[in-house]
Amino acid sequence: MYLDNSATTQVSEEVFEEMKPFFTQEFGNPSTLYGYGRESKKALELARQRVADAINAKPEEIIFTSGGSESDNLAIKGLAFKLQKKGKHIITTNIEHPAVKNTLGFLESLDFKVTYLPVNEKGIIEIEDLKEAITDETILISVMHANNEIGTIQPIEEIGKIARENGIKFHVDAVQSFGKIEVDVEKLNIDLLALSSHKINGPKGVGALYIRKGTRLVPLIHGGGQEKGIRGGTENVPGIVGFGKACELAAAQLDEHYEKLSSIRDELIDKVLSTIPEAYLNGDEETRLPNLVNFRFKAIEGESLILLLDAKGYQASTGSACSSNTLEASPVLTALGLDPVDVHGSLRISLAPESDNFDVDEFVNVIAESVSRLREMSPLWNQELDYDGVMCRKHEDNCRMC
Ligand SMILES: Cc1ncc(COP(=O)(O)O)c(C=O)c1O
Repeated sequence: MYLDNSATTQVSEEVFEEMKPFFTQEFGNPSTLYGYGRESKKALELARQRVADAINAKPEEIIFTSGGSESDNLAIKGLAFKLQKKGKHIITTNIEHPAVKNTLGFLESLDFKVTYLPVNEKGIIEIEDLKEAITDETILISVMHANNEIGTIQPIEEIGKIARENGIKFHVDAVQSFGKIEVDVEKLNIDLLALSSHKINGPKGVGALYIRKGTRLVPLIHGGGQEKGIRGGTENVPGIVGFGKACELAAAQLDEHYEKLSSIRDELIDKVLSTIPEAYLNGDEETRLPNLVNFRFKAIEGESLILLLDAKGYQASTGSACSSNTLEASPVLTALGLDPVDVHGSLRISLAPESDNFDVDEFVNVIAESVSRLREMSPLWNQELDYDGVMCRKHEDNCRMC
């Protein structure tokens, strides 16, 4: 049972079928004028229309890229380089994906100033903090729509309004929210929006950047003028075709999938919290993605839990795929004010609408068994507790409280 759909998803059959001809038969370069090229160009433009429709944009506002990371880079660096004479201050949050965080870190090395807004214990920024951070030098606000580790959703519409009232460009990383909840660039007042194909049952290595008409960027890849000169290089036609199809399917099934996933998610949260002692939910209970939950288990090492679950046939993760091979406490979870020791006992489960044979009871039993097995071996769990009248966890004879 694959439960790491926030890391990546399986390409759907319909998407794969749509892509196939563009590897072998329709292999033309979309920049050429003869038949093969024209067919590729047509497919490219249909995909652009499908992406645009899914976010309520116009096709001419969509630039294809190699994925979410490139889209974030292009949006942030492209805008910063364009507007640096106007100001060099950017506002973001302290829970952004590395594609945003490290891009901003790079800009700091070029003398840009970045304000990292803190989040509250639920993982949401305070609007007042944002208002206070704005200066005459602020050229960009970059806030992710939904967090990739905890699934918490930010008040994007409100942030967008503030950005617009202050004449500041607004970039949103919607890699995790797109296809899970509504993403409407008009309603949310967004100027730049990063999307990735492989999170919505499309192929890897493809994404898009929405650029609101009138927003100018300095290109990062110079080349033969493709993608209106903003992103040079022959387009990945099969990938883009697959991405377009995945967008069309995701948009058509958005409500149905939301209902289905959020009901499984809620059942999972209820059962884990009611069955397993000292289990906690990371992030906000209400304002969260329908497909993602993140739990914290006291006195557990997340990596060991992942391995036990894997041995039982469940593939989940401790945090984002990008950071899963470092042993550092997750910066997102520590930003919620959690103790770094507790953070290590976290488990991220991200569901897919196609996981029809997912049995919540069975899975919760497996987590419960694994957690209790690990706790039996954990000195942290077996230590005597004498705070607030809590008894020792083992109720042994030598416990002061029993
Ligand atoms: C929030 C967020 N932004 C950006 C990315 C990067 O996307 P890609 O893998 O397409 O480069 C990811 C991928 O995990 C993500 O979760």
